[in-house]
Amino acid sequence: TDDALVIFTPSGKRGRFPLGTPVLTAARQLGVDLDSVCGGRGICSKCQITPGYGEFPKHGVTVTEAALSEWNEVEARYDRIRGLKEGRRLGCQAKVMGDVVIDVPPESQVHRQVIRKSATARAITMHPATHAYYVEVAEPDMHEPSGDFQRLCVALKDQWQIEGVEADPALLRRLQPILRKGEWKVTVILYKDHHDKVRIIDIHPGFWEGRLYGLAIDLGSTTIAAHLCDLRNGNVLASSGLMNPQIRFGEDLMSRVSYAMMNPGGDREMTNAVRSAINELALAIATEGGIDPMLIVETVFVCNPVMHHLLLGIDPVELGQAPFALATSESLSIPARDLDLLSIHENARVYILPCIAGHVGADCAAVALSEEPYTSEDIALIVDVGTNAEILLGNKDRVLACSSPTGPAFEGAQISSGQRAAPGAIERVEIDAETKEPRFRVIGCDLWSDDPGFAAATAQTGITGICGSGIIEVVAEMRMAGLVDPSGLIGSAEQTGTARSVPQGRTHAYVLHDGTAEGGPLITVTQGDIRAIQLAKSALYAGARLLMDELGIETVDRVVLAGAFGAHISPKHAMVLGMIPDCPLDKVTSAGNAAGTGARIALCDTSARAAIEREVGNIHKVETAIEPRFQEHFVAANAIPHATAPFPELGK
Ligand code: FES
Repeated sequence: TDDALVIFTPSGKRGRFPLGTPVLTAARQLGVDLDSVCGGRGICSKCQITPGYGEFPKHGVTVTEAALSEWNEVEARYDRIRGLKEGRRLGCQAKVMGDVVIDVPPESQVHRQVIRKSATARAITMHPATHAYYVEVAEPDMHEPSGDFQRLCVALKDQWQIEGVEADPALLRRLQPILRKGEWKVTVILYKDHHDKVRIIDIHPGFWEGRLYGLAIDLGSTTIAAHLCDLRNGNVLASSGLMNPQIRFGEDLMSRVSYAMMNPGGDREMTNAVRSAINELALAIATEGGIDPMLIVETVFVCNPVMHHLLLGIDPVELGQAPFALATSESLSIPARDLDLLSIHENARVYILPCIAGHVGADCAAVALSEEPYTSEDIALIVDVGTNAEILLGNKDRVLACSSPTGPAFEGAQISSGQRAAPGAIERVEIDAETKEPRFRVIGCDLWSDDPGFAAATAQTGITGICGSGIIEVVAEMRMAGLVDPSGLIGSAEQTGTARSVPQGRTHAYVLHDGTAEGGPLITVTQGDIRAIQLAKSALYAGARLLMDELGIETVDRVVLAGAFGAHISPKHAMVLGMIPDCPLDKVTSAGNAAGTGARIALCDTSARAAIEREVGNIHKVETAIEPRFQEHFVAANAIPHATAPFPELGK
């Protein structure tokens, strides 16, 4: 016969092809995911494959050494200069000469899957918006006048079937010298999102092998967290964060909205502050990842609606009053320079996830993208704990969302000894119910405070304060040890039987750690701290309860705690506090920074962007700010764990 059977693994795709067909051509025709940047010219080596020889009983074929053509000049030259790994061939050069089984290694797949390391891992499939394409452009001809850009477009169409390419004037200015320097061979970096607009991000003379990077940024009211990702394989090179400098204009969202209302130009001040912080963060994270920040060509943002508007330079005043209208709720794909992000590539693109509603933002959409409640069989309550809690409830039939103003207490702010999660911060606490003596652990040290060697191990960092997870644990432990009554009142030394309860004004405080002898701080939990946590947890519970009312359910099947520090909250302590509704403890899981993960997914996978834009339209939003039942739930939830709601699982 003059054709042969070609079977690709791991996809299992197969077909018959005329002898002499290049493997890359066969892969393309079968829709097998085999990468290429140079378009089959034997330059980029992205098309590497591993042919298998011998018996393949599963596929019913025997493959002989003659199944692929021998090395040609191009392949031999590539191997001589760059070296091909043992057993590898260039898919664009090797031709099918007989039945063959061909493995496409992960590095050669564009749409490879990236598995997250955590237990609840959701795989990310690579469909990056930015990709490099090598083209050979026709030289200009006096008799057929056409612009260099037009001939570049023809080349992209002929060699890559890409049409409708747009370029900025800034890029056009660089185009002519680059084409000539590369002798009409260039590598074009194209951004092609799921809306099918194609833009030139950059152009390099000749074949360019540099890497491309993107930032996934979770822009929170209190902290800004970023991941630097390799856009070829989704790997995270560095993660970094800083405090949102807008804090000086107001700790929570509504105080920032009022700052904008009260001060002419206040919105602009806050916009400038956050934009310069993001530029600073981009530079820092590029340094940490060891890359040139100019190679950052994409940034995805997730944020709540107020941050969203302030990032975009839109006055958030409408978000401060009913009916809480957003300037725009749709996703945005814009040039990074429109946001003054000048520390990254000059033509970098920004994608911002859609908002769900006036109080339920792109951060909530990102949590939905990461946790996919709309595919869940059982009813999941997903809580992204932050200064504002984003709450999602539902399953594949219906998903509801709301946001609840918890305030910054869970992030360690407004707490007398509160601090952000950093080495030296107390993150785990146990209090002995008999002796009322505490033991604790601090971030950056694996030992408990009563373990031998703890003092030496923490000598470097010191014991500096309590972070968000620590404050939740200590309040819950105080309740369980009887140091605090159900109303949240700290008992006196006489009432509690411990000298650790000390008077403070007309109330009492619990001494968690006295480091004053070593020149360290005195870390106490004050009555004010307990009140701040009560307010925060009541808001969280009330939001969840409101969604449960709306769905007509009394219990949920599972609870997912998300948020940068939601991951560190112990389910038991959260339930003792009454932060979350009653649920079997083994059904309470952590999702880590789900909003940040959602941002990473959107950065790596344009089909996920399309998916969340679709799903957001089906998520029903419940407004907590105008719902009288929210207030009722909030008041009832002030007690620890709750005034009326039963918590049968806690008794187990
Ligand atoms: Fe570039 Fe084969 S496609 S080397």
